[in-house]
Amino acid sequence: MKVISSIRTVQNILISLRNKRKTIGLVPTMGAFHEGHLALMRTAKQECDFVVVSLFVNPLQFGPSEDFNRYPRDLARDRTLAKSTGVDLLWTPDAHDIVPPDLATSVDVARVTDRWEGAVRPGHFRGVATIVAKLFQIIKPDIAYFGQKDYQQTVVIRQLIRDLHFDLKMRVMPTVRETDGLAMSSRNQFLSPEGRAAATVLYRALQHAQQLVKKGERHCHYLQKEVESLIKKEPVAKIDYVAFCHPETLEPVDQILGKTVLLMAVKIGSVRLIDNVIVGR
Ligand code: PAF
Repeated sequence: MKVISSIRTVQNILISLRNKRKTIGLVPTMGAFHEGHLALMRTAKQECDFVVVSLFVNPLQFGPSEDFNRYPRDLARDRTLAKSTGVDLLWTPDAHDIVPPDLATSVDVARVTDRWEGAVRPGHFRGVATIVAKLFQIIKPDIAYFGQKDYQQTVVIRQLIRDLHFDLKMRVMPTVRETDGLAMSSRNQFLSPEGRAAATVLYRALQHAQQLVKKGERHCHYLQKEVESLIKKEPVAKIDYVAFCHPETLEPVDQILGKTVLLMAVKIGSVRLIDNVIVGR
């Protein structure tokens, strides 16, 4: 596996691969790899001739009071883990190349960013969309891989791909979970031992909703109350939002009439966790 920072060098490698009709997979990441990232890398490796993993902790997607400086960084560890999946190139662009001080262009995806993470974290999706557009533009992948855990992000990126005519396929892979159901996340390492135990409440609440829907419950108001009261049983859990939404528009729905996404964001102490599940069909 090559580890390269230079944009130009990476592009030259990719040009020669494209000339040989090789397919290119891209796994965009901010590092701090866990099984969720590794699953994306392994799938990319099965589906593409050449896999690029980008590793860039994107300052544009962190708000002023968020954890950009605290975000875990360990290149040696990430390098070993990426290599173990068989990816071909770990691309670690320099911040001044990707986000130069005179950067004047940003990408705003409207509507699907209005609510949920977009409302709680103003500017977050502008930062994500701007960087992802740059990554797509530089790498020009045939397939790009994302995790379902960041559900709203996948909706935003799908819209971005459509609106800017990026000629690529997007693959969204299922959330990878710890054995007790906690969704893998780089932020889990900030949980205290008590917080770690309490954090399983997100998955328990998602499962509870799934079971109620399976049994025939259709009223989102009732389902939401059920989910919220389960979460509130954990004294350290503080709900940011729990919402049953249309899976593409992310608008809240009153009834489960078809495929619906249940989105949640819950603070466990100072650690903010998000998770989601699809209910209905
Ligand atoms: O999901 C992430 O890790 C980031 O939001 C992404 C897509 C790499 C953009 O910085």
